[in-house]
Amino acid sequence: MSALDLRLAPMAGVTNAPFRLVARECGAGRLTSEEIDARALVHDNARTLALAAYLPEERPLAMQLLGEDPDLLAEAARRLEAAGADGIDLNMGCPVAKIVAKGQGAALMRDPLRAGVIFRTLRKAVAGPLTIKIRGGWDDRSVNAPEIARLAESEGVDGITVHPRTRSQQYTGRAPWDVIAEVVAAVRVPVTGNGDVESHADAAAMIAATGCAAVMIGRGALGRPWVFRGVEVARDERAAVIRRHAALIEAHLAERPALVQLKKHLAWYSDGLPFAARARPAIFAARTPTEVYEVFWRLW
Ligand SMILES: Cc1cc2nc3c(=O)[nH]c(=O)nc-3n(C[C@H](O)[C@H](O)[C@H](O)COP(=O)(O)O)c2cc1C
Repeated sequence: MSALDLRLAPMAGVTNAPFRLVARECGAGRLTSEEIDARALVHDNARTLALAAYLPEERPLAMQLLGEDPDLLAEAARRLEAAGADGIDLNMGCPVAKIVAKGQGAALMRDPLRAGVIFRTLRKAVAGPLTIKIRGGWDDRSVNAPEIARLAESEGVDGITVHPRTRSQQYTGRAPWDVIAEVVAAVRVPVTGNGDVESHADAAAMIAATGCAAVMIGRGALGRPWVFRGVEVARDERAAVIRRHAALIEAHLAERPALVQLKKHLAWYSDGLPFAARARPAIFAARTPTEVYEVFWRLW
């Protein structure tokens, strides 16, 4: 295990229980669920309830909420804590058009009044750690991550993750790490830096450049959860991690989502292998797990 506090970034449709546990087994620290819609959770939507499922070995596990209504967020947070969440994280970064149109995700970055009410309401509802995950701001004329971080701290938020791109930047360009340093300077609560980290060396560089306490890795962990180990991982060890991940998917997800997840993750695991580009269509065309495995292990 590495001395750095490296965490798996929440990714919708990707960081479900099997992938989170694999990341943990590779050395990832505190885990976070993918975004869970507070309204759908409170209305007992079956697909949303499935997103909140976790494996006991994953703990400590924070659950991330998406929403704009303080009372609904508070009710959802109470339910998640009752179900075993070790912390609640508020999503203030999702850039997706239909999400921000509802005032959720990154839209909260340009609505500090509402954000303040949400922090206060959630703080009263949440017994365990309350954290937020923010962007740099809405666009390059409104980079307000330090202000939002200060506001959150004053309302009792326990930790802040910063992905410093603005909403307008989406995932383009380089993540401006200096904004992480500005947030670190603005608050006393621990700050987790995030954005463009693909290796231990990158994580160490981010910590050196910004003073952040922990680092979250998102896309850099896709198809390579061993990034959390921080050492060269031999080919047969990689194969063992992939087998373990596939077994967890089959054991813990329903048939259809299991097939979708197998295809997605095995396609990522095949990135960089010779002939992977040609095999991808075959992976996605497969109709059963056995077919997916045949294509994948032949490549491997
Ligand atoms: C497919 C995908 C889904 C994501 N879903 C979420 C999410 O549910 N909640 C969240 O806070 N961030 C989400 N993110 C953002 C990541 O957590 C992270 O902030 C971003 O990818 C930058 O980090 P990276 O450069 O290490 O990938 C998502 C990113 C991707 C690529």
